[in-house]
Amino acid sequence: MTPGTVIAVDGPAAAGKGTLARRLAAALGLPYLDTGLLYRAVGRRVLDAGADPRDARQAEEAARSLSPADLERDDLRGPMADMAASAVAAIPAVRAALLDFQRGFGRERGAVLDGRDIGTVVFPDAAVKLFVTASVEERARRRFLELQGRGVAADPAQVEAEIRDRDAQDANRPVAPLRPADDAVVLDTTVLDAEAAFVAAIDLVKARLGRA
Ligand code: DC
Repeated sequence: MTPGTVIAVDGPAAAGKGTLARRLAAALGLPYLDTGLLYRAVGRRVLDAGADPRDARQAEEAARSLSPADLERDDLRGPMADMAASAVAAIPAVRAALLDFQRGFGRERGAVLDGRDIGTVVFPDAAVKLFVTASVEERARRRFLELQGRGVAADPAQVEAEIRDRDAQDANRPVAPLRPADDAVVLDTTVLDAEAAFVAAIDLVKARLGRA
């Protein structure tokens, strides 16, 4: 692996990016960063302060004072945390405050990063860019099963509605909207399980890096 090799894994909510990016990182011996966690931690801090995650001043302050311990919290997932993350992520000053950390993480030793704008904004020169997606119905089904597995009561129709809302919010914001980079390879995992998605992705990565 060339030092500093960056692999960008972007895509909408519940498309399987995290599982895939983590496995790619392990297979390639690269560090892994789930950039969604940064936005989740910012959203959580704003909620804790009793403020509205759309409040730009509060959200920027939370982003600037984020600490590693904030990323370790176990309340960063769930419908409230999802929507708060997506809301703070639409605020340009929040995105700017998190940019250096993400770039610093990837620059030295290389990394696999997953998110929404890794290939378009954070690392436009990434060696490989994957855009992992799946139909909204399949993503909702996976998220519902994940919640069930964690013992969280959920209504399938509501899970799907929340995913649609978050897709719309992430894709329609003016700054760093969710979209594939022009040079990204789109991997549709609607009919692929995690193993098949990994095999397809590692083949793509090796082909792009010029390794058999
Ligand atoms: O990947 P995730 O579902 O954990 O991300 C949570 C939210 O954070 C997502 O709805 C949008 C935002 N996000 C972002 O705007 N840019 C990123 N690189 C990662 C996440």
